[in-house]
Amino acid sequence: MNIINWQQFGLKKNPYNIQPLVEGGDLPIEKAFIGREKEIKYLNDLFANEDRLCLTLCGNVGVGKTSLANFVKFINKYSQQKLLFSPRREIEASIELLNKKNFIIEIIGSTIKEIKLLQRDLLKDDLMKKLIQIVDISDAISFSGSLSGGLAGYSAGIGASKEKISTQPLQLSMSILEDYFVKMIELIKTHEINGFKYSGLIVHVNNFDVLMAEPENKKKLIQFFNDIRDLLQFNDVYYFFLGPTDLFKNIISVNARVKSVFVGQPIQVAALSKTEIIDALNERMSLLKSDNVKNYLKPIEDNVVFRLYDLYQGDIRSIMKSIKDIIGQSPGSLSRPLNTNEAMVMLGQERWEQIENNFNLKDEQKKVLALIANSQNYVCQKNIADNLKKDRANISGYYFKPLIDLNIIEVKDKKGKTPYWGLTKEFEPLKWYIDARKEVQREIKKSLKQPTLFS
Ligand SMILES: Nc1ncnc2c1ncn2[C@@H]1O[C@H](COP(=O)(O)OP(=O)(O)OP(=O)(O)O)[C@@H](O)[C@H]1O
Ligand SMILES: [Mg+2]
Repeated sequence: MNIINWQQFGLKKNPYNIQPLVEGGDLPIEKAFIGREKEIKYLNDLFANEDRLCLTLCGNVGVGKTSLANFVKFINKYSQQKLLFSPRREIEASIELLNKKNFIIEIIGSTIKEIKLLQRDLLKDDLMKKLIQIVDISDAISFSGSLSGGLAGYSAGIGASKEKISTQPLQLSMSILEDYFVKMIELIKTHEINGFKYSGLIVHVNNFDVLMAEPENKKKLIQFFNDIRDLLQFNDVYYFFLGPTDLFKNIISVNARVKSVFVGQPIQVAALSKTEIIDALNERMSLLKSDNVKNYLKPIEDNVVFRLYDLYQGDIRSIMKSIKDIIGQSPGSLSRPLNTNEAMVMLGQERWEQIENNFNLKDEQKKVLALIANSQNYVCQKNIADNLKKDRANISGYYFKPLIDLNIIEVKDKKGKTPYWGLTKEFEPLKWYIDARKEVQREIKKSLKQPTLFS
């Protein structure tokens, strides 16, 4: 993997950055965000017509849930008739958060952070000072730094004097804390922030996937939503909960009491279409174009994106990551976009180098891997044992286990009780590489000599 010089393409920066789009990020979200018109219209209509809201945004890993929530927050913060305030950063779902007090404090903390960015003098307001104290104290005594992202010492330099902050455990009762929450919403509604008047607050809680990946958390999650049910009904607060496709079905709707305060259907976020992804990538490149060039140069042909789209079933993050891996394989500067064959060979090569350089596999284990990668069909352990004339008992532990642990192979099929194995999506490109290894090396050598490809 070479360090990529983006200037060779007439770009200021990496356009394949896999971070979610966010207000104030490297890319202006209002321009870089593509598609999702239907979901946005639906959400905007809801925001315009409801005076409180609670909904789930569900979808597979990397499809664009966080970016969608951030975009909807952005337009509702700056360009709708009825404006809603929101912290640009989301609240991260975690075990510590699954507690009503922590949840309220986390909302207050993230809101204060945003007000600090946009209307710093508002922090001098008496109520604000009190809110800051609440967040500061709880941050210092009862939370891991990760929970509220290190708000400790928040009061420093913003008017509230440090001496005032007691180091006593947080004694606030739930009802007093809730009361502060309501007062904060009132404050948002009655004070201009950054020149705008707001009608409420959007609360964005991200990544329930992480918690839901552990089955033992399910009960805790259901209990959490039951505990915060009254908060979810406060006026002028609009909640977004983001998670996997089954967040609504398995957590929210199992409790009728909770379900009844949610919008009845989750928003299922599907993969962007192929052309939307092409549009998104083109838009990124024009946004990041160097000032001193007329046009940017596309590093890859659009067909490469289509091919990766099929491989990763539209997962835009994996697509962008792979494109970057491909470009990182080019030995010199590119003078024209890579075509599909070139790109796929390079991606396979990149995966192979990962295995060679980072994974410490024994030669025999690599041989097993090569057999799996070369095989037209998925293979069972008996196939491998027969082929290598090895004892079947060794195959599973010595040969397969490291490949499974490194996420290189996985079960693809089952016939009766026998599992059949193949490459994971991440490593499927190995097929193209190993398959055509010799020819590929010839091709790359040849193209290296051709000034048309690498200069
Ligand atoms: N509508 C869009 N237009 C342009 N780029 C997008 C869009 N949606 C997502 N992206 C880009 O795709 C990548 C993945 O998006 P995002 O992080 O929002 O997905 P996610 O579903 O929240 O992922 P995760 O499951 O990991 O939380 C990011 O780099 C983001 O910038
Ligand atoms: Mg996300």
